[in-house]
Amino acid sequence: MNRLTNKRILLGVTGGIAAYKSADLVRRLQDDGADVRVVMTESAQEFITPLTLQALSNHPVHLDLLDTETESVMGHIELARWADVVLIAPATADFMARLTGGHGDDLLTTICLAAECGVMVAPAMNQAMWAKQSTQQNTLLLKQRGIALLEPDVGLQACGETGAGRLMDVADIVTAVASLFKSTSLAGRHVVVTAGPTQEAIDPVRFISNHSSGKQGYALALAAIEAGARVTLISGPTNVAAPDRATVVNVRSADEMLEAVMSSVSDADIFIGVAAVADFRPASVETQKIKKSGGSVMTLSLVQNPDILKTVANLESRPFTVGFAAETENLMEYARTKLTAKNLDMIIANNIADTSIGFNSDHNETTVIIRTITEQGTRITEAHQPKMSKENLSRKLIELIAEQLAEA
Ligand SMILES: Cc1cc2nc3c(=O)[nH]c(=O)nc-3n(C[C@H](O)[C@H](O)[C@H](O)COP(=O)(O)O)c2cc1C
Repeated sequence: MNRLTNKRILLGVTGGIAAYKSADLVRRLQDDGADVRVVMTESAQEFITPLTLQALSNHPVHLDLLDTETESVMGHIELARWADVVLIAPATADFMARLTGGHGDDLLTTICLAAECGVMVAPAMNQAMWAKQSTQQNTLLLKQRGIALLEPDVGLQACGETGAGRLMDVADIVTAVASLFKSTSLAGRHVVVTAGPTQEAIDPVRFISNHSSGKQGYALALAAIEAGARVTLISGPTNVAAPDRATVVNVRSADEMLEAVMSSVSDADIFIGVAAVADFRPASVETQKIKKSGGSVMTLSLVQNPDILKTVANLESRPFTVGFAAETENLMEYARTKLTAKNLDMIIANNIADTSIGFNSDHNETTVIIRTITEQGTRITEAHQPKMSKENLSRKLIELIAEQLAEA
């Protein structure tokens, strides 16, 4: 069973005897489906060569913070954003002290500072070093700050002593990483997600469409599956691979999408409309290819498409309904209006005028607006989500949706 398919793991290797075990760790993480990139401290390179880890991970190993060439390709911020989790194994006592102190004096500590994903630390050191009050206090502080501490094993050590301080067994580290992605927040729930663009036919060879890639919708479907939900993914034409465990319904036009949504939404707990549904379609579809004859201007009559999101949000027995507002201007104003006008529970506003996020990009930066209707009235809350991978954003959104559902 591949527990880490589609997961990006940034493995930090620091300078301890157990650094040789990181070679095995790279392989085991990959065997479980993960994409692994490696960052090494200067000391780590005295224990195992970057070449070994480069050959095993199939990617260049990242070594320096102040490397102008690397910074322009994949610098510390990019690496931190790329990762779904930063795993430091083995972690030296000194590295843990630097992490506790909030240092950013090398590539790995700086990545940890910049990381908005989970950070896991697997210490390995001599038993006396591990037992030392300073190390124990650092361990406690790191745990209090939400860093996952993979407690060292007890046993015979490289130095000949016996005690606690051996790197956690590599197979157990892989299991701990996998468990980070497991959530049961949507167990037993049915989630319907729409994704991608729609294509509105003009004639047998032409259509009107948009630039939606489907990446955000597919990432949300995957995050919902990871959270234990049964997922129906209704998708317009995309080039994105669908998650294994989703029931996928492929459609082309807005009409087809509406039909598919209506036949699956009746038992849905959550509906997430990510698809960029064309607002208009040609009034009639020509049965034969339109020829160039008849002057240099061609007029196309368009009629409005059904509003899928609004239709679902206004059903008598409606699921928790989430929409996206992809706008090029007046983002927040349009998003707030859409939230209320369409009777949504949540809207995710993203600025598609910025090409580094939104359509086609692997990243997104959004503001989530939540509308809660209580006996005291309607409450609107807004939460900004900084730029991050669409996968990480999806996990955050799914947890936010699950929290809302739990409170309802
Ligand atoms: C042979 C040798 C083995 C070492 N093994 C460890 C170890 O297992 N754990 C540890 O915390 N430090 C160990 N150290 C000390 C670290 O290498 C040292 O603190 C170094 O500065 C850590 O750098 P880094 O955290 O940037 O990788 C060892 C040092 C030597 C010379």
